Amino acid sequence: MVGVTIVSSFLSLLFLILLALVKYFDKLWWTPTRIQKRMASQGIKGPSYKLIYGNGKEIISMTKETMSRPMSTSSHDISSYVLPHDHLWTNICGKSFLQWYGPQPHLTIGEPESCKAILSNKDRICRKPKPPYFVKKLLGDGVSMAEGEKWVKLRKLATHAFNGESLKSMIPEMITSTEVMLERWKNHEGEEIEVNKEFKLLTSEVISRTAFGSSYLEGKNIFEMLTELTLLFKNTYTFRLPGISMIVNESLRLYPPVIHLVRETEKEVRLGELNVPANVQLRVPNLAFHHEPEFWGQDAQLFKPERFSEGVAKATNNNMVAFIPFGMGPRTCVGMNFAIIEAKIALSMILQRYSFTLSPGYVHSPINSLTVSPQHGVQVILHSL
Ligand code: HEM
Repeated sequence: MVGVTIVSSFLSLLFLILLALVKYFDKLWWTPTRIQKRMASQGIKGPSYKLIYGNGKEIISMTKETMSRPMSTSSHDISSYVLPHDHLWTNICGKSFLQWYGPQPHLTIGEPESCKAILSNKDRICRKPKPPYFVKKLLGDGVSMAEGEKWVKLRKLATHAFNGESLKSMIPEMITSTEVMLERWKNHEGEEIEVNKEFKLLTSEVISRTAFGSSYLEGKNIFEMLTELTLLFKNTYTFRLPGISMIVNESLRLYPPVIHLVRETEKEVRLGELNVPANVQLRVPNLAFHHEPEFWGQDAQLFKPERFSEGVAKATNNNMVAFIPFGMGPRTCVGMNFAIIEAKIALSMILQRYSFTLSPGYVHSPINSLTVSPQHGVQVILHSL
């Protein structure tokens, strides 16, 4: 009797181990191989899948290699530098291609109409993928990560928080924060400062002040004081320096903080000519679109703010995906107006006090660490006007 029990427990254990192995093997080998074959049969090529790592090792080694050598300071051609693997595989396989982050397939979509369909998501073809653990820890469980009912609720709240009136009430905080930064700079005139650090500080200062402001605090008094401050500064600064919008747009075109927008298929979907299986991550490559000569002409890699002199629609020839630094469709950035207003206020206040030259110590090395940022900071020398 005891013997029978032992044998049957052993067989159950063996069965469970076998089941786990089959599941594991399916996830790590059969499914990736099947998806790869399926996409290849539709003309989608890419680096071949490798067990467990996918193309992870190649991606890491290419990125490490580019990060170890600086770019020329006069070049804005950052796509091959920030995303060397995407650049290589686009050249070999075409603008739409399949690559693997571990066993997770990432399908880059180079076709603008399909990208519009993904981002507008009218046919509910995709959802936002669940963020990796470290991103969730960093960004929290807010609107950008939510889906379904929860997203609808949070999005409404966020849209309300950034509507015209709320934004207007944040302007005093933005001005005060910039003024605090400029006061700090007074001690460094003629010297080198690291503006990336300064702008990070400015952004966190603005966000904490605006969040503080909205918790209606010592509220009214401070608000009134800030409104007075605004009036005072309005007399000192002109916020409409000519060309600021064009400069902001051209900077966001060449250096978009978000380099691709990612969605995930929940079920098999039809996308243009392609049938895409479930659980594939779809990538809208906005960095590549922003630098695409087909959209921007042969001078696509040059900093020419005047492209935007007649607005975004004219600059992009009404091709919406050519310029999407804030995304598009229902999940477009809720903080867009906030970010643009802050950038314009800060830029116009700075430019009315200082000119600056790039420090000889500056190393041009933009990298993607959650957002595109300068690997070694941005050192400039301040010249008081
Ligand atoms: C230059 C600055 C910024 C850039 C380039 C930017 C870019 C973007 C992009 C591309 C998306 C869309 C992501 C996607 O479709 O998957 C996005 C979404 C979002 N952004 Fe921004 N953003 C900026 C500043 C801000 C600021 C200042 C805030 C808030 C204070 C903010 C809050 C959000 C939120 C909450 C979402 C998610 C919206 C949703 O999923 O419904 N962003 N941002």
